[in-house]
Amino acid sequence: MKAFINVAGLAREDLKDLIPYDAPVYPGVIKLADNENPYDFPPEVMAQIFEEITSQDFNRYPNANAVKLLEKLAGYTGFDMENIMVGNGSDELILMIMLAFSAGAAFAVATPTFSMYGLHGRVASSKELKVPRLDDFSIDVKALITAASRPEVKVVVICNPNSPTGNATALDDIEEILANANSIVVVDEAYGEFGGESCIPLLSRYPNLIILRTFSKAFSMAGMRVGYLLAGNSVMAELLKVKPPYNVNSFSQAAACAVLENLPLFRETIKAILAGRKQLISKMSMLPGVEIFPTQTNFILFRTALPSKKVYDGLLERGVLIRYLEDPALPRCLRVTVGSGWENKVFLEALGGILEQ
Ligand SMILES: Cc1ncc(COP(=O)(O)O)c(C=O)c1O
Repeated sequence: MKAFINVAGLAREDLKDLIPYDAPVYPGVIKLADNENPYDFPPEVMAQIFEEITSQDFNRYPNANAVKLLEKLAGYTGFDMENIMVGNGSDELILMIMLAFSAGAAFAVATPTFSMYGLHGRVASSKELKVPRLDDFSIDVKALITAASRPEVKVVVICNPNSPTGNATALDDIEEILANANSIVVVDEAYGEFGGESCIPLLSRYPNLIILRTFSKAFSMAGMRVGYLLAGNSVMAELLKVKPPYNVNSFSQAAACAVLENLPLFRETIKAILAGRKQLISKMSMLPGVEIFPTQTNFILFRTALPSKKVYDGLLERGVLIRYLEDPALPRCLRVTVGSGWENKVFLEALGGILEQ
């Protein structure tokens, strides 16, 4: 056996100081940190998935092209199945976009935003060009077009609605970028079922547009890991080159199909979340010193007079986990996911207790 080998010495120099993504787990706490849907699958949908999965051979690979799911997604989005690709969460698709288009080059992204763009960019050796959002968190259209005109920038990223800020971007602004950018434009609609306008109507006109979507948020499937993207033929041809085979397992394919076959049930939970959000906003705004930012999503960005770490720790002590944001662009801000009725109530009482201390 080899006595010693310096593994760190063999590792990529450019990733030496990369801090891996970490999602802390606190068993038993109310989790309002990751923008998940608080409502699990209805039992009848769960039964349908089990029936479907038990008819499949576990010893065989899943359908490599997830054909049944693509057919259902074509019905849901109104777009051809040849122009849809599924991934092991939209996370995997983000990495694939970086690998196919901006590896060894650069991407521009409207910040602050979802941290995985920065991480996957680094893994793909793609330089990140942050284009700060304006004071009201709207995107800086001119600055994004300028960034996209740099020859090394191959991809521009806009999350719409955005996380963690919660606001949506007008379609006209996105179209201006699409029309003027000589790059791929990724519009991440992870929260699209909760608000904002979808870019789907623009897809047939802009071959450089990629729309990213997920089943993790509105469709209660964070644990199943299914995301998808919509794009034109030429983009799809490039993405297929980097797509791992069998990237979405049989169980997750069956679960996503079941969601699309039972949409009215899931639309009920979206309605409940939107009603919960309205109530949460109205109650939070009565608390001393709380500033709430407009949201079109299933979460709320808010600021208090206290340091955000103090609020975060205080909530955790009281059994509620929310998202602590370290971004200097968001001083004293925190992000809370809209939970179920009782989860929101516990959060409000805990937050009230901390702020009134
Ligand atoms: C904007 C945005 N895009 C993508 C994702 C990743 O979603 P998925 O669970 O499909 O990987 C998230 C998750 O928080 C997100 O906020």
